[in-house]
Amino acid sequence: MVNLHTSIGKFQFNNPLMNASGVHCMTAAELDEVAQSPAGTLVTKSGTLEARAGNPEPRYAGLALGSINSMGLPNLGYQYYLDYAVAFQAAHPDQPIFLSIAGTGPADYQQMAEAIQASAFTGLTEFNLSCPNVPGKPQIAYDLDTTARILDDLFKVFKKPAGIKLPPFFDLAQFDAMADLLNRYPLTFINSINSLGNGLAIDPATDTALIRPKGGFGGIGGAYAKPIALANVRAFRERLRPDIAIIGTGGVTSGRDVYELILCGASLVSLGTVLQKEGLPAFARLTGELEAEMTAKGYDAIPDFKGALKTL
Ligand SMILES: Cc1cc2nc3c(=O)[nH]c(=O)nc-3n(C[C@H](O)[C@H](O)[C@H](O)COP(=O)(O)O)c2cc1C
Repeated sequence: MVNLHTSIGKFQFNNPLMNASGVHCMTAAELDEVAQSPAGTLVTKSGTLEARAGNPEPRYAGLALGSINSMGLPNLGYQYYLDYAVAFQAAHPDQPIFLSIAGTGPADYQQMAEAIQASAFTGLTEFNLSCPNVPGKPQIAYDLDTTARILDDLFKVFKKPAGIKLPPFFDLAQFDAMADLLNRYPLTFINSINSLGNGLAIDPATDTALIRPKGGFGGIGGAYAKPIALANVRAFRERLRPDIAIIGTGGVTSGRDVYELILCGASLVSLGTVLQKEGLPAFARLTGELEAEMTAKGYDAIPDFKGALKTL
């Protein structure tokens, strides 16, 4: 039997798999289902200051090798998820939980950080700086100055374990610049990657874009994203302080994909599109496939191969 135990900071997990924010985590009922699955932990939908209805439908479509979405951050408001997380902790003191937060502008982050700081929440907070799907709003993490301003303000008030969700980067100079910036802050983790921003998918029968918002443009997840996710996790693992853990997200459809994200340096791996497509049974399938892969490679435990990618 292999041991799937992993950790981030002082938080311990008995399985590296979790849901990706936005998938199976909108309501307390969905969050409870993830908590009761084989997943090692769970994250809420990204909550905003006020509840949002999101973009008009259709706003998600499954594709042959993944998905496209432009949800526009539909959510029940961050207070709903904060209340859920506090109640969850009281009921499951040994099970860590992640609270995801998204601003629709820089000022929102500090306001929500103050409220979370003042609350009874003792879990991990993920500040999502990478939502590509709010019409008229640029993705924050592609703007280093704005990212620095948000993190400066945030860490003045926020003293609890915190991480940020990043978009994919494509240039080695971007990895250098973002890692230099992130290394200045008391981050516990980063989560890499959010969807590949602004792809386009077309229905061949009607020559029409598959989703309605933004003229059909939307974030791409699933197998399309895997090589980019591997590269982002690897690039940040090589550049970030060793005490900043990485949650690997993007492109997982098999246990081998989970294994490869860990090989690149991920401590936890989250499931987005595959969970949307397969539902909760994805956790048991991928756990079994990860165990088989580790057994085939002769590894008993996650630390044995975490970050152990070989290069030529
Ligand atoms: C329907 C949907 C909603 C999403 N909503 C969020 C969100 O609220 N917050 C967030 O950080 N990421 C969100 N994401 C991005 C996922 O968390 C994940 O980063 C991305 O889909 C890549 O993973 P995948 O290849 O496993 O799908 C969403 C993705 C999908 C498909």
